[in-house]
Amino acid sequence: MAARAVQTNPLSPDVEQACSALDGAREHTLARLDGLSDEQLERVHSPIMSPLVWDLAHIAAYEDLWLAHRHGERALLCPELARLYDAFETPRALRGEIEALAPEQAREYMREVHKRSCEVLAERGLGDGAICEMVIRHELQHTETMRQTMAIAGLLPDGEPRLHPMSASEGWLQIPAGPFAMGSAAKGFAYDNERPRHNRDLAAYAIALRPVSNASWLHFSEGGGYERREWWSDEGWAWKEEFDITHDRGVAAGHPQAPVCHVSWFEADAFARAHDARLPTEAEWEKAATWTQEEGRRPAEIGAVWEWTASHFSGYPGFVPYPYREYSEVFFGEDYPVLRGGSWATHERVAGLRFRNWDLPQRRQIFAGVRLAREA
Ligand code: AVJ
Ligand code: FE
Repeated sequence: MAARAVQTNPLSPDVEQACSALDGAREHTLARLDGLSDEQLERVHSPIMSPLVWDLAHIAAYEDLWLAHRHGERALLCPELARLYDAFETPRALRGEIEALAPEQAREYMREVHKRSCEVLAERGLGDGAICEMVIRHELQHTETMRQTMAIAGLLPDGEPRLHPMSASEGWLQIPAGPFAMGSAAKGFAYDNERPRHNRDLAAYAIALRPVSNASWLHFSEGGGYERREWWSDEGWAWKEEFDITHDRGVAAGHPQAPVCHVSWFEADAFARAHDARLPTEAEWEKAATWTQEEGRRPAEIGAVWEWTASHFSGYPGFVPYPYREYSEVFFGEDYPVLRGGSWATHERVAGLRFRNWDLPQRRQIFAGVRLAREA
């Protein structure tokens, strides 16, 4: 790339790796949009999603802010664009209206930013590498957001969504009482919300071996799942009534043994109650997912669909915001339940067993399903 040609000092291998990881993320991003027209990129497909071109320019603005500006102490490439494409300064509801970049301009902005990023990394090095890793993962997280938009718009390519019949059977895993270490270790990259690692002591519980299938969900729905008041929370019932919610069309269209997808937290909660079960807490989910390497004794089929938990997004004891409050902390509180595990659309660099995702309880654009838990 051009930025490397102008360097006089040879790049350290780490910086080389970082630049090629940035390149790889960019290729992954642009490949998602292959074959889409400008009109499809610019259209607002859903009031809760940004136009796809907004994600592109936002990815670039974020990279410029964190790598060239904060890490490299350079002026922003374009302060006006930085503002337009900041998630907090320009909320989703306004993103269809703004004087935005056309797709080719957004791609040009991405190229310019990327060039500067590599220059800055070559000059300054990576520091501890956390900022660069955050920028790479940010872009990769947006590739999943973009696929949510594409799923709503019917624009996913052939072969997607990759939701296949599960090989694990139904059944329960018994997890014994006792402590476990929750959260990410102090070393290595982790998001602020995964730290600090701390001990949790849990009572014994059972967790499902696999997520709920389309067949089970259809059975729930046809058995009055969306009509039986007693299975629903007050908030969930009010939401369901107001928007006339019933099962997602993928439930009947998908393979019966594939995991159910596009389920909201409200529905997941109702489904659990209908089965004399509940959602696992985040701690229960993480303990089960990490407590043993033994095949057959830990949850199977993790990573096909996000799994809703019973827990609200909050800071672990001793939480320190890093590198900015808006990544995690402003979302702490009762409003956002946590999802765990990752989906078919999550890049492997993004989601590990300690990764925490969150969204509002009524949201169905996420590739989310449900894994049940119950008392031992
Ligand atoms: C972790 C998926 C909830 O999409 O709002 C993207 C990730 N943060 N840009 C989101 C994120 C900033 C975040 N989630
Ligand atoms: Fe973002």
